[in-house]
Amino acid sequence: MQNETIRIAVTKGRLEKKATELFEKAGYDMSMLKNRGRQLIAKISAPESNSDGSVIEIVIAKPPDVLTYVEHGVCDIGIVGKDTIIEEGGKYFEVLDLGFGKCRFSLAVKKGVEFYEGHGLKTIASKYTNVTRNFFESKGMDVDIVKIEGSVELAPLLGLADGIVDLVETGSTLRENGLEEIEEIADISARLIVNTVSMKLKKQRLDKIIERIEENL
Ligand code: PRP
Repeated sequence: MQNETIRIAVTKGRLEKKATELFEKAGYDMSMLKNRGRQLIAKISAPESNSDGSVIEIVIAKPPDVLTYVEHGVCDIGIVGKDTIIEEGGKYFEVLDLGFGKCRFSLAVKKGVEFYEGHGLKTIASKYTNVTRNFFESKGMDVDIVKIEGSVELAPLLGLADGIVDLVETGSTLRENGLEEIEEIADISARLIVNTVSMKLKKQRLDKIIERIEENL
């Protein structure tokens, strides 16, 4: 079906801005998305839209929801950080590394603390409890994990945790709060993911979008 709608779930916030720039560079008309106000779905036009009537909708969602919508096939494509992919898992194809939203997962502690010294059970605060669990399991180290929803740097400052596992981009949040990175866990960037069924049923149209994006990275 030539003019069946293609839906792209885009992570709200920083990645949305970068993704908009990338799609624009690739020739898409993003004006309805940019002027969407509080609307959560916006139509964008592909260069071929006028001739074949094809419709593309952008759905703006929180990171784990981007995965959910793509996994369930209500969105064909997703743009989401590798951090969310590692933390949440799921079944979809990870097709492109978009190269923006670069940062890393790191273990950080209060400056000067010798984290690996001593035998007591350590407490780690993180929004990413699966990443944290897997990291310490790979070291054969048992830790207590406390889930924190944001500004996780507070946890060691308040005495709740010995360390944090969090995203570090410039390192200034850590520095300004007297914390330091002691180990890098994984490199992160935005990825383009595709629903496994859409990849087959809408292959031609999806290939065209992916190709255009890839050419403009
Ligand atoms: C992220 C992350 C760090 C900060 C790192 O938080 O959790 O706190 O950015 O960036 P930096 O190394 O450049 O200082 P975000 O701003 O997304 O908010 P959050 O803490 O509420 O998740």
